[in-house]
Amino acid sequence: MNNPASASGVHVNVEELSHRYTPKLPLTFEEVSFQAVPGEALTIIGRSGCGKSTLLQVIAGLMPGSIGRVSINDEHVIEPSSRWVMMFQAPHLFPWMNVRQNVGVGLRFANWPKDRIRDRVDEALELVHLEEFAGKNTQDLSGGQQQRVALARSLVMEPEMLLLDEPFSALDAFTRASLQRDVRQIAKQLGINLILVTHDIDEAILMADRALVMAGAPGRIVHDYKVDLPDPRERSDPKVQEMRAKLMKVFRDAAGAPHDGEDEGDETSEEDETMMNDSTKLEFSGREYSPA
Ligand SMILES: Nc1ncnc2c1ncn2[C@@H]1O[C@H](COP(=O)(O)OP(=O)(O)OP(=O)(O)O)[C@@H](O)[C@H]1O
Ligand SMILES: [Mg+2]
Repeated sequence: MNNPASASGVHVNVEELSHRYTPKLPLTFEEVSFQAVPGEALTIIGRSGCGKSTLLQVIAGLMPGSIGRVSINDEHVIEPSSRWVMMFQAPHLFPWMNVRQNVGVGLRFANWPKDRIRDRVDEALELVHLEEFAGKNTQDLSGGQQQRVALARSLVMEPEMLLLDEPFSALDAFTRASLQRDVRQIAKQLGINLILVTHDIDEAILMADRALVMAGAPGRIVHDYKVDLPDPRERSDPKVQEMRAKLMKVFRDAAGAPHDGEDEGDETSEEDETMMNDSTKLEFSGREYSPA
């Protein structure tokens, strides 16, 4: 797994996808179309309720779209797969298993021999910087460390794509910052795709190559915004701040939120504040954080 040649990303093709939970309910999202190339990191941002989580679940094959089609490498997605793995806000670890056992659980179900499981789990723990915690109980880990275990558990399956639904929103600002950086770096190292749903514009700028802005009811993709920044991305970099201000303006325009002035949107309106959580504002005070 340390060898990037062993992993690769996928072509994602979402075509005219619409979804309705039941025939009596209105559409959740409508006519969503986009593509992603192998290794691309995409983010979907939008206000609460516009259908981001629903869209991600349809892309992951966890539920069918009502109309339209999702293909991964030309394969029609109709069910979940270990090749595209979803990560949620809660790590959902098994409390009666230690870290190593949690990370290897998928391989055990796949009947891998013990020594191969051990090697693969060691590689995954190294990727997420948890080598020293292999024998620990998961209850003895911090929230951020538990989320790293969940990440390692996804990575042992050598997925081609990780789908993340606000996976860091329950974490403190310091821990979140280090996970944001590490998840992007790991995905780039392995060459796998990311699709990340977030409310957090800073997270979008720090982690994504492209941001899809969703708005409306039913939700639609109203902007496809290229986040053209070199790595590593630091919050304090003026280019990062400039890009963030531009994306915030695009977001405000899409949401129909009032502008305070004609500037690039450096000021944060009340509506934007409801979108961004407190720690996001904290993080974007121009200070640099070191990993937790
Ligand atoms: N199981 C369900 N049955 C019926 N309606 C649902 C179901 N799950 C979600 N919805 C509705 O679908 C819409 C979109 O929900 P979704 O969770 O996808 O939004 P979201 O953009 O992820 O919101 P948030 O940012 O708050 O997580 C909402 O109006 C929600 O009430
Ligand atoms: Mg959601």
